[in-house]
Amino acid sequence: MRLPRVSPAGYRRITLVALVALTAIVVTGGAVRLTSSGLGCSTWPACEPGSLTPEFSLHPMVEFSNRVVSAIVGLAVLATVLGAWLRRPRRRDLTLPALGLVLGFLAQAVLGGLTVLFHLSPVLVMAHFLVSMLLLWDAFVLWQRAGRPAGPRAPSVRAEVLLLGRIVAGAAGLVLTLGTVVTGTGPNSGASVVTRLPFDVRSVAQLHSDVVLFLTGVTLALAVVLRMVQAPPRARKRCLLLLALIVAQGTVGYTQFFLGQPRPLVGLHILGATLFWLATLALVSSLYRDPTAEPTAEPPPESMAAATRPLATAR
Ligand code: HEM
Repeated sequence: MRLPRVSPAGYRRITLVALVALTAIVVTGGAVRLTSSGLGCSTWPACEPGSLTPEFSLHPMVEFSNRVVSAIVGLAVLATVLGAWLRRPRRRDLTLPALGLVLGFLAQAVLGGLTVLFHLSPVLVMAHFLVSMLLLWDAFVLWQRAGRPAGPRAPSVRAEVLLLGRIVAGAAGLVLTLGTVVTGTGPNSGASVVTRLPFDVRSVAQLHSDVVLFLTGVTLALAVVLRMVQAPPRARKRCLLLLALIVAQGTVGYTQFFLGQPRPLVGLHILGATLFWLATLALVSSLYRDPTAEPTAEPPPESMAAATRPLATAR
């Protein structure tokens, strides 16, 4: 029997579905925790005995929506592996991240189960969120690679600028991690007072926002440098987009802190954090050459060509 083939364009669409589904599940998962809807359905896989779908009320609807999105994520990550295998030409640099998505999905299923078993232990809730961010990273890289020829990409900016971009990405990861510590310490961890992280919520929120201020500074510096070296417009635009998201997310963060972490705002903060992470990944990616982009009509001036000269090849 001849196996069906997947075209490169078809495979790229599959990877995009996986990326979107993995983004959606962070938000629906957050909604389950914030509305305490984890037990909104009394059985599995049907929501209620004899009924696959939920009754029309908040907790069952939220829990059921999360189940539907989880099923879509499961199918989508499986499709990335199957698609990588059926894709012609087959590429190892696509198969490996696709397998990573399936492993990550299984790890999340185990973590999710343990979280319930250990009564929403804050450390497990933190791990669940952070593994989601790693999965998004993997899905993003896969989607990007699926859209261009195999092989490493040279940086589109010089090494010092690339380093600044990596500092931005590192600080972004630290902000996300500290955010989960604030949640684990505060009232929205889902856990009882006894099992919350033993920190002072004001101090950890302060640390979280201090790192945000540092991040704002380095992202601003990167935006200025990218303009000075006339980096590709793609990189400059993405840096400004990230800056705008940091400001928006910071505004939501301070507001929710001073209002005592109301749940709708915390939900918005989770959505913002997810978009912020995607914007960070997009920024780092834009610091490398895009082999599918049209060559620019005018070559950069000699001095600028020197400033943007690639120093090494990577990824
Ligand atoms: C780039 C900016 C920011 C990002 C990416 C970010 C990200 C995050 C993340 C990922 C969480 C954990 C969400 C969860 O696990 O449910 C969080 C929680 C939190 N963040 Fe931020 N944050 C930012 C800025 C700020 C700022 C400036 C403040 C001001 C104090 C702040 C206050 C909080 C608070 C109070 C929580 C705990 C919310 C809860 O009760 O669950 N954030 N943040």
